[in-house]
Amino acid sequence: MTVPTRIYLTGFMGSGKSTLGPRIADRLGYDFVDLDRHIEQAVGDTVQEIFANQGEEAFRRLEAEHLRAVSHADRMVIALGGGAVTREDNLRFAKKQGRLIYLRMTPRRLADRLEKRAASRPMLHEKGRPLSGDALRKRIASLLAEREVFYEQAHIVMDVGPGPVDSNVSKVMEALERERGK
Ligand code: S3P
Repeated sequence: MTVPTRIYLTGFMGSGKSTLGPRIADRLGYDFVDLDRHIEQAVGDTVQEIFANQGEEAFRRLEAEHLRAVSHADRMVIALGGGAVTREDNLRFAKKQGRLIYLRMTPRRLADRLEKRAASRPMLHEKGRPLSGDALRKRIASLLAEREVFYEQAHIVMDVGPGPVDSNVSKVMEALERERGK
């Protein structure tokens, strides 16, 4: 099967980009890059620290810069942070440089998964503290509503099901194959 040389994964925080990404890369014999980890390694701070010390805008500038830097290489699966494609120029760039896949998950499942993981995600904080319960659900619903318009512009929209990771990986592989046959 011939696949595009760069595959970008987008989707809301907690939708499985960093879990599915390495497995998809494995199946294809590609390298995997997590854009947030790439930024953290270059800057020497965690995403959380960058938000706290330099603010969201500074993080978004780093994100745009690193998206371009990692995209020089071929045969890669790149997991983007959940906010990356909400900047039009990043969305256009990723779509031009490879195939963009939106890993879609229901707000309810996202909330369940993010309940324990909000601490490391500054977009899910309020007054410096991670949201939980109803407040978290409301934040997820409103952010997702704002962002869907960007996510849905991906070349492939794939619903991530509750089943095992491997079955979702297979669904991505099948979607790539179907795309190729178009
Ligand atoms: C963000 C998502 C995070 C990270 C940062 C901002 C967002 O990545 O880039 O905290 O705006 O949705 P994940 O989607 O991998 O959690």
